[in-house]
Amino acid sequence: MAGMLPRFKPAVSSLFRLGVPRSFVLGSRGVATAGLTRAQEVAGQANQKDYYDQSSHYDLIFKSDNIRLGYFPHLAEGSRSSHELNITESGYALTHHMMTLMQLTPESTVLDMGCGKGQACVDVARTAGCSVVGVDLSGTNIARANELKSLNPDLRLDFLEGSITDLPSKLKSSKFSHIMTVQAWVHVHSDLDAVLAEARSVLEPGGLVVVEDFCSNDRGIVTEQAMQHFYKRLHFDKVLGPAEWQRKAETAGFSVEHVEDLKDHMAQSYRLMAQAAGDLEILSADGTPLQENYRNTVDIIDKGEVTMLLAVLKLPA
Ligand SMILES: C[S@@+](CC[C@H](N)C(=O)[O-])C[C@H]1O[C@@H](n2cnc3c(N)ncnc32)[C@H](O)[C@@H]1O
Repeated sequence: MAGMLPRFKPAVSSLFRLGVPRSFVLGSRGVATAGLTRAQEVAGQANQKDYYDQSSHYDLIFKSDNIRLGYFPHLAEGSRSSHELNITESGYALTHHMMTLMQLTPESTVLDMGCGKGQACVDVARTAGCSVVGVDLSGTNIARANELKSLNPDLRLDFLEGSITDLPSKLKSSKFSHIMTVQAWVHVHSDLDAVLAEARSVLEPGGLVVVEDFCSNDRGIVTEQAMQHFYKRLHFDKVLGPAEWQRKAETAGFSVEHVEDLKDHMAQSYRLMAQAAGDLEILSADGTPLQENYRNTVDIIDKGEVTMLLAVLKLPA
């Protein structure tokens, strides 16, 4: 992939003439790389949309249409496997693991809240033979999801641009048997009640939500290190601790059927991502090597400041 990229380092002003997004930054080796945000500041959805509309660095790191940290079977409790997946494989493995919890049939109807580029929707529709609708805030991601839909005309897929805090009107009267969501709710934890209400409103009685999400900690600790290398980089204004997260789900009328703490999987993902970001010499918008952001994120995970949860929520029948 690096061979296809520019080997020179043009002046920043020439990037604008070339039509390269403003957040596009070149590494010192002269390899084209994607910066992260227009500004390292915490803000609302407009900036999250901006971030994901321009986050082409994920293509280089994940090398697939999944935009996610992954699942590593060798780290699972009781695993006897020693085979370590790479970051690309781990993204697909997460979908596979979530599907074991969803128990889908061809009659199932699935909504993916924050579907990104729709790769998981394709994989679920292909494996289970069911219909899948994906919603995402980023027009760039939905455009790619629609390309995947065209490439898979035999699958029952639909993609809509919109927010999970206020689902597109086309979905308001729909009912799904399952909702899946990966690393998307965290972007709107300050509005998690609205997200849960939306999920509830489009779920059949007895329906399941299989949700994989980032959480902070129940001590309410946000260190400067976490702020610099995690919160600001990802435009998180508020990240709930696991206990408050679960309380909100229960208050919204869900029972929490199953919870896994995927802290080790989160740390392993960031370790592999740090390696890739270092090899590609990707810089954050503020000039910090992305590898440094990622290594510090591993550190705050190891210190118990942030984690990744996988939960199954159920509506009463
Ligand atoms: C880490 S990516 C995960 C994408 C996808 N779930 C996957 O696993 O590949 C987070 C996604 O959440 C989307 N997102 C953030 N805030 C959102 C909102 N309020 N409504 C819908 N999508 C949102 C982003 O556009 C992005 O595609």
